[in-house]
Amino acid sequence: MIAVIGIGFVAALVSTWMKSDDWKPGRVTTEASGGGELHPVTIRQPDIQPLVATGELDAHGKPVMVACATCHDNRDPNYQANSGSALEEFHQGLKYDHGNQTCLSCHNSEDYNTLKQADGRAIALNESMTLCSQCHALQHRDYQNGMHGGMTGYWDLTRGGRTRNTCIDCHDPHHPKFPTVTPVFPPKPVIGENPATHDTPSSHHENHE
Ligand code: HEC
Ligand code: HEC
Ligand code: HEC
Ligand code: HEC
Repeated sequence: MIAVIGIGFVAALVSTWMKSDDWKPGRVTTEASGGGELHPVTIRQPDIQPLVATGELDAHGKPVMVACATCHDNRDPNYQANSGSALEEFHQGLKYDHGNQTCLSCHNSEDYNTLKQADGRAIALNESMTLCSQCHALQHRDYQNGMHGGMTGYWDLTRGGRTRNTCIDCHDPHHPKFPTVTPVFPPKPVIGENPATHDTPSSHHENHE
């Protein structure tokens, strides 16, 4: 009897584990059993175009943008490039600090308008979630479980939808370290002021007598 229950338990565990293989970004597994219609979980997709500003303005005063391919179609890719400070001809000032990876471990040397996955397939510039998750599987798993990346909206998806950030909302792909915040002491209360109530000294005359 106990053996049968045991086998059933293991089977249930295994099937949950197998199901977890096809998790998709933002898919919510725990809420599905609640019944009722579930509102969607939307992952923000920033509108990133494969364009850079030339620094010049057109006749209407708008910045002149050029496609990556305009220049890169006529240039040999530099597979060694791995630092911002080495860029002298263009993209000067690009701050880069992301392990010791080269630029072309993420950018697609076949088509600079796109990024590339580890297997060489091209993905759009704004598909950072797919890109980052290949190397940061741990954070991606945490993201899917709601422990990384934050969200706004409803916990209970039967009541309303939810919006989730994408990786580059918080991390610059070129220098992804989240800026550290230095803890400081809270401001000192002004002498004579009661910090707990923010009362002025005059309203508490009796305390000081
Ligand atoms: C006006 C021309 C121009 C445009 C437009 C341009 N680049 Fe570049 N790019 C360059 C030049 C020149 C270099 C080499 C800079 C150096 O090594 O000093 C470079 C270097 C790079 C590198 C380093 C690897 C390599 O092959 O040199 C990457 C990655 C890159 N560009 C990505 C892009 C992306 C993505 C875009 C579009 C968003 C873009 N570039 C648009 C001129 C351009
Ligand atoms: C970890 C992956 C990764 C690496 C490595 C990387 N990039 Fe990028 N890069 C991205 C992503 C993602 C975007 C699009 C999102 C954005 O614009 O912030 C981007 C955008 C760009 C752009 C267009 C927008 C902009 O910031 O001007 C340029 C130019 C560029 N990268 C150049 C480079 C160069 C040069 C290097 C190497 C010094 C490099 N990248 C290394 C992921 C990467
Ligand atoms: C090709 C593999 C690869 C890709 C793709 C990649 N990373 Fe990384 N990432 C690394 C490596 C390697 C390190 C450095 C680890 C170390 O130094 O310990 C790193 C470090 C980091 C760190 C820690 C930085 C620090 O200094 O503490 C963050 C945050 C990060 N990556 C975010 C991202 C984001 C966001 C993306 C997508 C835009 C991304 N990564 C794409 C390989 C990758
Ligand atoms: C809401 C903002 C936010 C989003 C969205 C976000 N992160 Fe982070 N991430 C952080 C913060 C904050 C830290 C720093 C935690 C710390 O320093 O302890 C961090 C740390 C990291 C680290 C470094 C971990 C370490 O131990 O040093 C990696 C790698 C990373 N994130 C990858 C990702 C990936 C991949 C995504 C997209 C699936 C993502 N992050 C989305 C806020 C975010």
